[in-house]
Amino acid sequence: MARTDWGIGIVGLGGIANTHLQAYRNAGLKVIGGADIDAERAKAMQDRWQLPFVTTDWRELIDHPEVRIVDITVPHKLAVRLPIVEYAAQRSKALFVQKPLLPCLEGAKQLVEVAERYKAPLMVNQNSVFVPAFLAMERYLRDGTIGTPYYCQIENRAWVDVSGHAWFGKDERWVTSDMAIHHFALVHHWFGEWDSVYALMGRDPSQTGVRGDNWSVVSVRFKNGVQACIINNWAYRGNRPRPHSREEIVIQGDKGCITGDSEDICVVTVDPPARIYPQFQGKWFPDAFANAMCHFIDALEAGRPFWCSGCDNLNAVAIAEAAYISAKERRAVQRAELL
Ligand SMILES: NC(=O)c1ccc[n+]([C@@H]2O[C@H](COP(=O)([O-])OP(=O)(O)OC[C@H]3O[C@@H](n4cnc5c(N)ncnc54)[C@H](O)[C@@H]3O)[C@@H](O)[C@H]2O)c1
Repeated sequence: MARTDWGIGIVGLGGIANTHLQAYRNAGLKVIGGADIDAERAKAMQDRWQLPFVTTDWRELIDHPEVRIVDITVPHKLAVRLPIVEYAAQRSKALFVQKPLLPCLEGAKQLVEVAERYKAPLMVNQNSVFVPAFLAMERYLRDGTIGTPYYCQIENRAWVDVSGHAWFGKDERWVTSDMAIHHFALVHHWFGEWDSVYALMGRDPSQTGVRGDNWSVVSVRFKNGVQACIINNWAYRGNRPRPHSREEIVIQGDKGCITGDSEDICVVTVDPPARIYPQFQGKWFPDAFANAMCHFIDALEAGRPFWCSGCDNLNAVAIAEAAYISAKERRAVQRAELL
């Protein structure tokens, strides 16, 4: 069996679907077609990517006999995603769902429960975990080069104007649920189960077109002793931006330190003193998307577990949920309160 035996149907042919399609083309994967409620957009995407099949009714796409993986890139709203997940799960299709699974934990749990009810495999396209540079960092993190890790810091700061966007930033939750989720999933993948979260959060009201939080500082304690500080600031007007996808990551261990971003990494060790510049191929966009889908297909093919399953991803969504509760109630939130 080959990866091309896993026909992909994309529900939602908007902005990020272009990255999916580029990634799958580069990786030689088989896209059967797409669905979008916007007929003009569907047609334009069909022409741009030479899609064999497009429809305005996602049921038709899911029912297509060659579609085995339903790739969901519609907005992360429960009312939009739940019927699609349910319909596909009932038909035993595999589900690949764009991050954030949902911005609130209760809704995310509902999606996971529906998939589990019908035993449909569900992976969240939590592509931060599959960024080539971050996979390279992970090797040094796990092989003891920097000793025992004890602290991780991620900082993403830029001015992000979404005033012209139809729905992004228009809900009560924004940067923490929609952007920081990349980082929450990454630190969960690296450091395991978290223990407690404390957050500062706010909104610069001068940033128009945004209703929710546009900055947050989220500290996470993990059960293995690592502590992380995750800063997402999309209201930064200063002259030293570190914008997504070049947010800065620092991981400190008792024998060294990893510093870098999605395009450049340096590992510093103390004994012997050394600077290592790991080599890797590819960038976040679109290579992490190809890596994520290939990982899913290979796992489905082999019948083995995969990273970022819906159930596992609840850990990341729960960090975001805990951050909102923490900022509102000005207290640390324990994992046991949510999961
Ligand atoms: N790095 C990343 O992984 C990354 C980057 C950008 C966006 N995203 C995520 O991807 C998702 C989509 O974001 P986007 O920027 O592409 O949004 P978008 O608004 O550009 O595209 C969404 C598309 O879904 C379509 N749609 C809406 N409801 C539908 C329905 N019921 N059936 C079929 N089509 C429907 C819309 O017409 C639109 O074309 C979001 O969850 C977002 O957070 C992830």
